[in-house]
Amino acid sequence: TRVAIVFGGRSTEHAISCVSAGSILGALDPDQYEAVPVGITRDGAWVLSNGDPAALSITDRKLPEITTDSGRAVVFPADPTSSGLMVLDPADGVAVLGGVDVVFPALHGAYGEDGTIQGMLEMAGIPYVGANVFASAAGMDKEFTKKLAAAEGIPVGPYAVLRAGCSLSEADKERLGLPVFVKPSRAGSSHGISKVTDWAHLDAAVAKARQIDPKVLVETGIVGREIECGVLEGEAGGAPEASLLAEILVSTDGNDFYDFDAKYLGDGTPYQIPAGLDPEVAQQVRELAARTFTALDCAGLARVDFFVTADNQIYLNEINTMPGFTPTSMFPLMWAATGLEYPKVVDRLIRTALR
Ligand code: DAL
Ligand code: MG
Repeated sequence: TRVAIVFGGRSTEHAISCVSAGSILGALDPDQYEAVPVGITRDGAWVLSNGDPAALSITDRKLPEITTDSGRAVVFPADPTSSGLMVLDPADGVAVLGGVDVVFPALHGAYGEDGTIQGMLEMAGIPYVGANVFASAAGMDKEFTKKLAAAEGIPVGPYAVLRAGCSLSEADKERLGLPVFVKPSRAGSSHGISKVTDWAHLDAAVAKARQIDPKVLVETGIVGREIECGVLEGEAGGAPEASLLAEILVSTDGNDFYDFDAKYLGDGTPYQIPAGLDPEVAQQVRELAARTFTALDCAGLARVDFFVTADNQIYLNEINTMPGFTPTSMFPLMWAATGLEYPKVVDRLIRTALR
């Protein structure tokens, strides 16, 4: 089975996608799968990379990056007679790489986790790992994630949507209360997020978030534990399965939330799997995670993140339809604790996509 692992890309999570792809490439059983590593530069150029794991990891706080020097240019999808990748060799013209059986879009954020590449793959008729166009787009956008989840009775905290050019009304300030979290509606890995404890700092936080997305969410800061759950599409089309839960204990790097540095650059975020919740509460979270997966029409996988307050109120925070697959990412760690080791997760995802 030929698997194209597509990574990097135009989003702010370019580097994390490279690290996810490096881990996935390392986990593919070579007896079963032929990996075709396809990197996308920050400008959107596609290159056939050598998939060297060393070039796809974070070393000394230096983030990996795909450039056009990383490999040969690729045009995709290009072969009109069979869905497949086509390699353009600048030296000797066009050469067809041949079809791939399935694509693993190990892309996080815009132009990858948001339905765009999924649409292209649908048009090319190539099976791919993970959520379809709609679920990807809905899951990428924190406004629509909340709206769809709330419509299914899944609890979400108070929030306001600031569309381009809009600012927060006095009534919304009153309703939300301090502190608030200000977030780009469509981003990941905590890029562009600020915690605001004084309304005087709101405008700066909104401006920072708008550097990533003109649409910004302002959410009431929920005092509670940060709990995550991995969900996999059921085997043979059954109900989605929820992993044991992870609790993110604190962030390390001086900020008081689970920010980018804490996620990827520090000494590792302290976490606990399974989370130390009452068993009934943990079960409720797992059920809500599976319901969120279904509410958004997800496929393949998702990581669903919640807050759980001291009196065990559960609030959906967000969903990631292509969660991180790095060595410190919660999704594979939660599944390993649940009994499905990293290579088995990757294998199951590819088999699910091909089903
Ligand atoms: N958005 C990052 C990759 C995550 O959810 O793990
Ligand atoms: Mg995210």
